[in-house]
Amino acid sequence: MLSAAMNERLTRVGPGTPGGELMRRYWIPIAPYSQFDDENPVHKVRVLGEDLVLYKDKSGTLGLIGDRCLHRNVDLKFGIPDQCGLRCPYHGWLFNEDGKCVERPMEATPRGEIKQKLKAYPVQELGGLVFAYLGPLPAPALPRWDLFVWPNAIRQIAIMKIDCNWLQCHENTGDPTHSAWAHGHMFQYVLEKQGRYEEAAARAEHTLHTRLKTGIGIKELYANPSTHGISKGVRYSKDLGADEDYTREHSTVIFPFFTQTGKTGAPRSEYQIRVPIDDEHTYHICYQVYAAPPGVDAPKQDSVPWYEPPRFDETGRPILDYVLAQDALVWDAQGAITDRSQELLGRTDIPIVLLRRQLDEQIRRVEEGLEPINFWRDESPEIIYGSGEAPDYSKPLLKHNFRKLYHRGFFNDDADRYGPIIEDVKNLHRRIEEAEIAAREASADAT
Ligand code: FES
Ligand SMILES: [Fe+2]
Repeated sequence: MLSAAMNERLTRVGPGTPGGELMRRYWIPIAPYSQFDDENPVHKVRVLGEDLVLYKDKSGTLGLIGDRCLHRNVDLKFGIPDQCGLRCPYHGWLFNEDGKCVERPMEATPRGEIKQKLKAYPVQELGGLVFAYLGPLPAPALPRWDLFVWPNAIRQIAIMKIDCNWLQCHENTGDPTHSAWAHGHMFQYVLEKQGRYEEAAARAEHTLHTRLKTGIGIKELYANPSTHGISKGVRYSKDLGADEDYTREHSTVIFPFFTQTGKTGAPRSEYQIRVPIDDEHTYHICYQVYAAPPGVDAPKQDSVPWYEPPRFDETGRPILDYVLAQDALVWDAQGAITDRSQELLGRTDIPIVLLRRQLDEQIRRVEEGLEPINFWRDESPEIIYGSGEAPDYSKPLLKHNFRKLYHRGFFNDDADRYGPIIEDVKNLHRRIEEAEIAAREASADAT
């Protein structure tokens, strides 16, 4: 459990709060770049408790500026992109990406320039996401995390707005054992109620079977600070019911709010990014990457499409038959900002304790005027491996794993099934499988 004061410190993200100051040292993904089209060049954005407008002007420049016109407060989400900047629809005042008012039509010129400015933050695009930096200038480098830049891959972006504080979503990452219940027993319960369990039971590849297994024979959890965050996992014991003694690595935590599942370069990997909209809402991004090994070409993408996986059916009931929706349910079911002074932690919460400690330590570094981890002052390395290494392409890539077997018509048990490129993913996985079979046959012929 945490004291109420520590809970505040770790969860609040507004300007001037300790946690908010930490967040303001990082580039924050705020929108898929493909959201911009001729129909939608201007978007209202709320991030770290600040209301802003994100726009693309006619010259292609992105701007992120305060949402209220300096003249008489019109919401600039109704703004009109100009050649350079965004124009208020009421009297046409024009604002550039620095928040400066560069034109006031109909005002007599002798009055000169006005000194007031809208707030304005730097924005950049990388890997199909728009990133903003809300902290003290000069802005640091935008880190080139591996999944954003890995070549020979196709990508899609799932956006879900969650009605709770970002840290609840992120603590889920420090919690390997929730998988057995939220994605195993609850999955089974949901399918039984829908009369669909028999169908799932007959398919060994259904994720609920592997998830149920992750809860059996747990000896202990481990968690260690790593270069970019936390590595963690579960040790299983045959004496306690596991098939054998073994260790299973869980997803990687990348500071401050990323999780990576699947290795970089694998047929399916993902960043889950927990962007604080404000203290009680989270902009949850699943950045999904489907990579091809050498010898197989992934299709070219002009842009990275995005989608919103549904959380409720037409009657308003929660949809719970896929992994991300199950996570979303338990995140906001803890309350808007869960009261951690009232919790009762167990031995399975060891990684969460480390995750909180790391967050507190990094907040302190910023308080002391130091740079936090994962901060590159001048230039990002060409590629930063958040979780370690690329996959070993000498091993079969499409082994038993529900996310890699879509192409065989097996259950599609995660948000990916709603994604706009899922058919391309199936085709790619089919081609990877064919290449693997051909390589195996060729090596058998050679021996
Ligand atoms: S309110 Fe924006 S120009 Fe008048
Ligand atoms: Fe989960």
